[in-house]
Amino acid sequence: MSNQQYLTLDRTNDKMPIIGFGCWKVEENVEETVYTAIKNGYRLIDGAAVYENEVGVGKGINRAISEGIVKREDLFVVSKLWNTYHNKAHVRAAMDRTLKDLNLDYVDLYIIHFPVPCQYVDPKEQYPGPWTIDGKMKIEKSPMHELWAEMEKLVDAGLARNIGISNFNCQIIMDLLTYAKYKPATLQIELHPYLQQRELVKWVKEQGLQVTAYSSFGPSSYVKLTKDAKTVTPLFEHDMIKSIADKHKKTPAQVLLRWAIDQEIAVIPKSMSSDRMKSNIDVFDFKLDEKDHADIKKLDENLRFNSLFAYGIPVPLFN
Ligand SMILES: NC(=O)c1ccc[n+]([C@@H]2O[C@H](COP(=O)([O-])OP(=O)(O)OC[C@H]3O[C@@H](n4cnc5c(N)ncnc54)[C@H](OP(=O)(O)O)[C@@H]3O)[C@@H](O)[C@H]2O)c1
Repeated sequence: MSNQQYLTLDRTNDKMPIIGFGCWKVEENVEETVYTAIKNGYRLIDGAAVYENEVGVGKGINRAISEGIVKREDLFVVSKLWNTYHNKAHVRAAMDRTLKDLNLDYVDLYIIHFPVPCQYVDPKEQYPGPWTIDGKMKIEKSPMHELWAEMEKLVDAGLARNIGISNFNCQIIMDLLTYAKYKPATLQIELHPYLQQRELVKWVKEQGLQVTAYSSFGPSSYVKLTKDAKTVTPLFEHDMIKSIADKHKKTPAQVLLRWAIDQEIAVIPKSMSSDRMKSNIDVFDFKLDEKDHADIKKLDENLRFNSLFAYGIPVPLFN
């Protein structure tokens, strides 16, 4: 396995590993899976309250630390604030719950998962809260500037070293930048050859935010969730991606990850298989050439799989 690379975050100068392990849909053997990811060299763990596995994720992390595989400071732990806790009255409690579940004193990065304030539901009734109540998405009256001020308090309290955003578009980021005392350190977005988001990435980087790509393998993560993901050619089976992989003696998955890393975009692939985990992180001994990048550029179809419509929530978040 080759050496890790890092992106430097504004304000703290923290080094964020350019490749991390994604925890969405890690539903079984969570502790073992996260522990194995760390043993296999992953140093960034990308979690979220809504993945409903933070207790197991924390056990995996703490096991690796207690066995001396890593020190806490060698890890970069990420979690995300869920939509139902946007109100300023609930942000601190949501952070506390995540830290309790993870059994950690702080996270390295705490991200607003979606710019979507859903009506608060008491965690005693349901944790995390739902997207909809009685089939409708009800909006919690929690303006983003109030939420961001609460996020900044988490930094001041030493609970989150960095704060960031996910699934935000240019408009709301621009507004956020007008009042943020601490700028978001990162933007996490869906990004793969079918959804390249070049203009957003360029603009966001110019504002000093780092970008993390999620769902780097495109439709693969969504075949059980959305119709579109079933009808499109899987990126792993795409002739162009396969021929680039053959040329570099790498796998299509490694090409897809390297494509983002070459653009200084972080990636967080998820896998339940130890072998695939190992091969996904083995991407530091090659680079795509100019022709590879020019060819992959042609695959952009603005094809988004993680759309709220796909989950039956009629909110045009990305329009
Ligand atoms: N901020 C957000 O709203 C948001 C949304 C989505 C995801 N995320 C984050 O991003 C992470 C990654 O995205 P993702 O989980 O959607 O999808 P992904 O990492 O693009 O793809 C995961 C899928 O690819 C398979 N896979 C992994 N490595 C492979 C390989 N080398 N060859 C063939 N198949 C492989 C996995 O199956 P196996 O497990 O069987 O290997 C799984 O089905 C998530 O886990 C989560 O942390 C964030």
